[in-house]
This record gives sequence, C-alpha cells and structure tokens, in this order.
Amino acid sequence: HIQMITKEDIPRVLKFLRRFFFRDEPLNHSIQLIPEGEDSTCVELEEYCMISVEDNLSYMAVTTNGSIIGVQLNGKMEPLKDDEPEYISSCKNSKFKKILRLLRYIDLNVNRAGRFSGQNVIEIRILSVDSTWRGRGVAKALMEKTIEIAKERNFQILRCDCTSFFSGKLCEKFGFEICYEVKYADYVDENGTPIFHPSPPHTAAVTYITKL
Ligand code: ACO
Repeated sequence: HIQMITKEDIPRVLKFLRRFFFRDEPLNHSIQLIPEGEDSTCVELEEYCMISVEDNLSYMAVTTNGSIIGVQLNGKMEPLKDDEPEYISSCKNSKFKKILRLLRYIDLNVNRAGRFSGQNVIEIRILSVDSTWRGRGVAKALMEKTIEIAKERNFQILRCDCTSFFSGKLCEKFGFEICYEVKYADYVDENGTPIFHPSPPHTAAVTYITKL
C-alpha cells in the first residue's frame, strides 16, 4: 500500500534510495555517482532528497511486511531565482553538481516567459522503484496517490522532469503533456562535448506537466 513519508521514515527511505535511485537513475548511472561495488553515498543527493520530505507531499509503496518497494518525493515548486542558487555553486561533489546544473538549465527553460507565475505547482522530484518490482504498476500507484493529494491541497499544475525513458512512459500513460525537452546529445560543455551519456533508451530529459 501507499503511505505518506514522515520524518521518522527518513533513514529507511534513504537506505532504499541509496540502494536503487543513487545508482540506477539514468544520469546517476551514467556518471557513476556511486561507483559500482562501493558502499558509499552522495551526501548532497541525500540532502536534496530530504528537503522534499518537509513538504509532507511524498509517498512510499510498502509491502504487507513493511518493506519499501517504491518512493516518490514531491515538493512545492518555488519561484525561480535569477542567480544560480548557493547549494549548486557551492556543491562539493563535482559529479552531482553537473546534475544540479542540468536541472537548473531545465528549470530556466521550463519557466521561460513566467509560464507558471502565480500558480501552485507540485513537482515530482524523485521516483524510484525496487528493481525486482519494476513494470508491475508500483510507480503508477504512487503517481495516482500524488494526483489525489495534489488535487486535495489545491495544486493547479503537476510537473515531472523525467530523466528516464520509463518515467516518461508513465507520464505519457497518464496523458501528461510535454512542456520541454532537452536531448542528452545536445546538452554540451564549452567544447561542444555532451556532458551525459546515459545508455539507451534514455535519450532526453523531458518535462511533463498536467493541469489538476
Ligand atoms: N525495463 C523495462 N520496462 C520498464 C522498466 C525497466 N527497467 N521500468 C519500467 N518499465 C516500463 C513498464 O513496463 C511500464 O510500461 P508499460 O506500461 O508499457 O508496460 C512503464 O515503464 C511504467 O511502469 P510502472 O510499472 O508503472 O513503473 P515502475 O514501477 O516500473 O517504475 C521507474 C518506473 C520508477 C521509472 C523505475 O523504472 C525506476 O525506478 N527506474 C530507475 C530510477 C529512475 O530512473 N527514476 C526516474 C527518474 S525521473 C524522476 O525521478 C522524476
């Protein structure tokens, strides 16, 4: 079943995300954020994850014996700042900083011309399912719960930045619209070299939105 993530759940949610999302989300995987075989973590990504829990809009899927099999971290979209936020410029993990910069680049494009100004937008920031449970509708169930709660709390728009082909497929199934897309091959450094090389079928980061 699906339950809200509270502060008390944080240690086991992080344990779950370290095992799956930190390693297998396409961008994390492509830059080997957590090198294979290493029992390490990315403190900055942990902090990024935990900020969302404070909004009380995040959910986890658990089995009848209480094991976590899926996590969806959601938060309220904050107004975009003109300058790069301090948590990005001062990020000590150079690999994660690259991801934060891509997310900021997407944010700037998505918010172009004040698209969401004055609107209450809920963002899906992290979506992760236990690899042995994938393709069985766990993410779908988490998404349904988020839509239900977002409507109850008077959000007007739901936004999901999909770095994975599979989360994109899920958004398509819900009938969400594409609002912005950047192909990984087109997101390049100062020498024109692509910064991320996720393996197929992950070719682009796609932002989906839907009216609630
Ligand atoms: N291989 C093949 N197909 C897959 C896989 C996979 N690894 N994962 C999901 N799919 C397909 C499903 O078959 C389904 O398509 P279908 O309806 O045509 O059969 C679709 O993707 C979604 O299926 P669900 O069962 O609802 O989703 P699932 O519970 O498998 O979770 C998720 C999808 C969360 C993307 C999962 O694959 C995952 O944890 N991936 C690694 C982490 C990741 O990339 N997260 C998303 C990043 S974007 C973000 O966080 C906002």
